[in-house]
Amino acid sequence: MTKPLVAVQSIEELRARVRAARQAGQRIGCVPTMGALHAGHLSLVEAARRETDFVVLTIFVNPTQFGPNEDFTKYPRPLERDLDLCRSAGVDLVFHPEVGDVYPAPNATYVDVPVVDKVLEGAFRPGHFRGVATIVLKLFNLVLPDAAFFGQKDYQQQLLIKHMVADLNVPVEVRTCPTLRDPDGLAMSSRNVYLSAEERQTALSLSQTLKIAAEMIQRRTAPAEVRAAMKQHLESFAGVKIDYATVADAQTLEEVTELVPQMVALIAARVGTTRLIDNQILTVRAG
Ligand code: PAF
Repeated sequence: MTKPLVAVQSIEELRARVRAARQAGQRIGCVPTMGALHAGHLSLVEAARRETDFVVLTIFVNPTQFGPNEDFTKYPRPLERDLDLCRSAGVDLVFHPEVGDVYPAPNATYVDVPVVDKVLEGAFRPGHFRGVATIVLKLFNLVLPDAAFFGQKDYQQQLLIKHMVADLNVPVEVRTCPTLRDPDGLAMSSRNVYLSAEERQTALSLSQTLKIAAEMIQRRTAPAEVRAAMKQHLESFAGVKIDYATVADAQTLEEVTELVPQMVALIAARVGTTRLIDNQILTVRAG
């Protein structure tokens, strides 16, 4: 039988329902999202259901993480469809506040996590991670979850959140769950809906490039050579504009000049007008 789904907009109602669940001895799981849910989000819900007893999914298109020329206004907001998906996925509570509930005007306090917020996404989207860290801390303070679930697709984001939680002693366990892909390799993203059929084909260049990088690193190819091959492959597709395509240390996100134990390949590129990101953890073949 499908569990009843409760969707609330108000902070008071959210707090009351979470408090009741906690008083009933339940562990609270939180899946923060901006809505436009897809199977990737639902896999986070599954992980939350495995680990916790009461799953709160938040839907909030957070204005502070969008730059002035980004897609805040056009970001998809299919609330009814999202609620149906949450119902079938077994979410207990959806919190979908209005901007004014979450950001009282004027909002004077923001969270900066300078350790990994300047490079890669941080360099191309100034202010983005300040917006992410601020809203995630707000959501943690509102939901008070025991554990929160994020996708590896936003690799830098999950790293930043882990730093914030450690630095500010936030009592939340942060879990990173694997990226979900369509059968042809395209990483699932709410922004994929912007792609035309032709652009969607071109977008496969990102996961293909990551595969090339993973194979080269497995064979112990030098990172500079891998980066060159990544760029060359992406550039062979008309309609792809690279922001970055690199191999970095998996913890610091600094570009590596030699093979280190934990590495990650990361790409951000525009396909048409849609900006996509993807990444893959890299392992070196032993011996
Ligand atoms: O990954 C996202 O969807 C957003 O950045 C998040 C974590 C929900 C914060 O707005």
